[in-house]
Amino acid sequence: MRTLDQILEIKGYEVLTARPDATVFEGLSLLAEHEVGALVVLDAVQPVGLFSERDYARKVILKGLSSRNVLVRDIMASPVISVTATLAVDKALGIMTDRRIRHLPVLDGQGQITGIVSIGDLVKDIIAEQQFTIEQLQHYIYS
Ligand SMILES: NC(=O)c1ccc[n+]([C@@H]2O[C@H](COP(=O)([O-])OP(=O)(O)OC[C@H]3O[C@@H](n4cnc5c(N)ncnc54)[C@H](O)[C@@H]3O)[C@@H](O)[C@H]2O)c1
Repeated sequence: MRTLDQILEIKGYEVLTARPDATVFEGLSLLAEHEVGALVVLDAVQPVGLFSERDYARKVILKGLSSRNVLVRDIMASPVISVTATLAVDKALGIMTDRRIRHLPVLDGQGQITGIVSIGDLVKDIIAEQQFTIEQLQHYIYS
């Protein structure tokens, strides 16, 4: 079974982050600019939360608040649910399903962030692996 480090090797190790004292508006601007759905919130180098479009929808819009007056730290999901790069892809998908989350920051042995995977990354990888297996079986049957 493939592991998260194999996904990160292809996807890359860049992680978009926000400071806890950034405004929600600043966070949303970064999400839009980079076309991603979540930011890891870092206090210095320590991951302290995850800020997502869902947090904005539920904790700002629905409460009639303004994104310019609310800070990322006030609405981020915390503590962060994170994993290490040696985790199998299907186990990571199981964590996302069980915890109802769409992003998993990947940490190294020192607790430093080394990447992030989304539910889309995992589904894409699983579909590619299944396609590979199907092609192998077709080759076996028809050759
Ligand atoms: N074709 C692809 O390679 C691919 C991969 C993933 C997602 N998608 C599509 O994007 C859409 C939304 O995807 P999603 O719900 O999985 O989440 P998303 O929009 O947050 O993720 C899109 C991509 O951005 C990356 N990303 C997200 N947050 C990041 C961050 N803070 N720092 C660095 N990278 C970050 C993800 O790992 C993923 O590769 C879906 O339509 C999905 O099908 C496509």
